[in-house]
Amino acid sequence: MNGRSTVLQAKVCALLQGRSKVMFDFKNKIVVITGGARGIGKCIAAQFSAAGAVVCLIDVLDNDYFVGDLADKTTLEVFAKKVIDEYGHVDYLINNAAPKSCGITNGSYEDFEYAQRVGVTAPFYLSKLFAPYFAEGASIVNISSSRDRMSQPETESYTAAKGGISALTHAMAISFSGKVRVNSISPGWIDNNYIVYEGADAVQQPAGRVGNPLDIANMVLYLCSDMAGFLTGENICIDGGMTRHMIYHGDCGWSLEPKN
Ligand SMILES: NC(=O)c1ccc[n+]([C@@H]2O[C@H](COP(=O)([O-])OP(=O)(O)OC[C@H]3O[C@@H](n4cnc5c(N)ncnc54)[C@H](O)[C@@H]3O)[C@@H](O)[C@H]2O)c1
Repeated sequence: MNGRSTVLQAKVCALLQGRSKVMFDFKNKIVVITGGARGIGKCIAAQFSAAGAVVCLIDVLDNDYFVGDLADKTTLEVFAKKVIDEYGHVDYLINNAAPKSCGITNGSYEDFEYAQRVGVTAPFYLSKLFAPYFAEGASIVNISSSRDRMSQPETESYTAAKGGISALTHAMAISFSGKVRVNSISPGWIDNNYIVYEGADAVQQPAGRVGNPLDIANMVLYLCSDMAGFLTGENICIDGGMTRHMIYHGDCGWSLEPKN
């Protein structure tokens, strides 16, 4: 991920957002989004708002709805109560906040455990708190990662959290059968600043480019819509095809310089 990049940021961002007509009608639907103050979550929030939904965010960063740490049980209870007191029900829950990454060498017990609380326990507990209040046609979308199935060194806490949320997805899909559809998305490399990468960074991806937040947000809205009414317990990997590559040194232009 350290190749050359051309920053066409502003142009591309404007172009994509202008081109991205919101195809869905979520008028007056209540959407809860965790980690919605920046990045992919912010884009998901903007797309839902453009489709007419009421968005309730929770983030440690400043935002219009609720500032709090998802790793804290009481905070989750206070947040869920606020949503229900104000709106009485939830249509869609998007568990998006990013857990921190630490590795087997430098990660402490506390670091690892904190990542699981943000990445797995909070999605579980928010789903549980909202369970009595999900409206007809409700949907949960969990944001996992392609790292739920593949790894780089020293990424244990993040990878474990992503494996956890992917598995939590199919467990909850069964527990909520007939009531709430539950799906997950595993993004690959998503550049939240809409940077356009060229050269190997782009062409290594079978789709020919690095992803952007709209690639994920569009799928979230689709999964929440009636068009996805027969889809539950599923994981959709949106990674430009990277996890489908079979890579061998010396084949197809791939080469490895082993570190001694
Ligand atoms: N960007 C990528 O390349 C990529 C790839 C795969 C998966 N993902 C996943 O997509 C989701 C969004 O990623 P992103 O790139 O937008 O991340 P980001 O770091 O830009 O944004 C994450 C948001 O979560 C919030 N957050 C983190 N910890 C929190 C806590 N304890 N309590 C409340 N809020 C908290 C942050 O403040 C931030 O607003 C994450 O689940 C991430 O793991 C991202």
